[in-house]
Amino acid sequence: MTAVNVFAPAKINLTLHVTGQRADGYHLLDSLVTFASVGDRLDIVPGNALSLTVEGPEAAGVPADLDNLALRAAALIQKDGAALVLEKHLPAASGIGGGSADAAAAWRGMLCLNDDAYHAFADGSDHHFKTQIDALTRLGADVPMCIACKPMRARGIGDQLDVVPLPALYAVLVNPRRPVSTPSVFKALTSKVNPPMPEAIPAFADAAVLIDWLKGMRNDLEAPAIAVQPAIADVLTVLEAQTGCGLARMSGSGATCFGLFETEDAAKEAARRLYTAYPDWWVAGCVLGDQFNAALPKVS
Ligand code: C5P
Repeated sequence: MTAVNVFAPAKINLTLHVTGQRADGYHLLDSLVTFASVGDRLDIVPGNALSLTVEGPEAAGVPADLDNLALRAAALIQKDGAALVLEKHLPAASGIGGGSADAAAAWRGMLCLNDDAYHAFADGSDHHFKTQIDALTRLGADVPMCIACKPMRARGIGDQLDVVPLPALYAVLVNPRRPVSTPSVFKALTSKVNPPMPEAIPAFADAAVLIDWLKGMRNDLEAPAIAVQPAIADVLTVLEAQTGCGLARMSGSGATCFGLFETEDAAKEAARRLYTAYPDWWVAGCVLGDQFNAALPKVS
């Protein structure tokens, strides 16, 4: 095999209930997560040493050293080295899992370049697999969910995962181009213990039913994130007042917010309008679901 190209889709928290806090300070979550048709791309070419280059429209300020989770995740698999080229399309520190998605993509790509590890993983015989997932969780609580890239319910600190089948949703993602630090948002959260989602998540017949159900759920980090970065409130107001979306909510710890639509045309039209009206914002129309499920690239 000569090289792999891996898609790293944006992670969207359709809900994010904070249900408690562990003794080590990490928060317990109950979150419904899905993945988007927008994301970063990672090229991996085998080489003699491990290296990373960052390019693309959102590359500015993204580290290319071991501060970058993609490089640290690749190092977990590395045998003979590889050159990673990360094409950044997702804004950094924006609540849609960019760094975690890149780390997951790097790990999956490196696995594919390493035939032995790939086959051991693919047939479930790799005893080191759990050790690897634990190491990836230490890199970032969101990394394990980004490895599966399927709609999921995430509990624990975000690492206890259950696949939840969801109908496709159409969305416009909007980021006011203000990075938000996740720890600062958790710190600003005053109520640490809030109700979880219902124990049973129903089967949703279509996007309209899902959007309606989501209206009864929350992102508990929305208010503290707005306190840290008031521009988030402006984004939510614009999504609600100017796009006709069925629901506007923030993802993760912000600042990216999403508006949900039942049709692709409606989402695209909203994205076009916001892109023109707010040229300083990052705007992306996309599909949310499992059709972008980043299955392991085939070993050739
Ligand atoms: O794991 P990750 O690096 O994404 O987390 C960044 C920070 O966010 C943690 O250091 C912690 O302060 C906070 N966090 C938390 N509870 C979680 C996930 C993250 O308190 N479940």
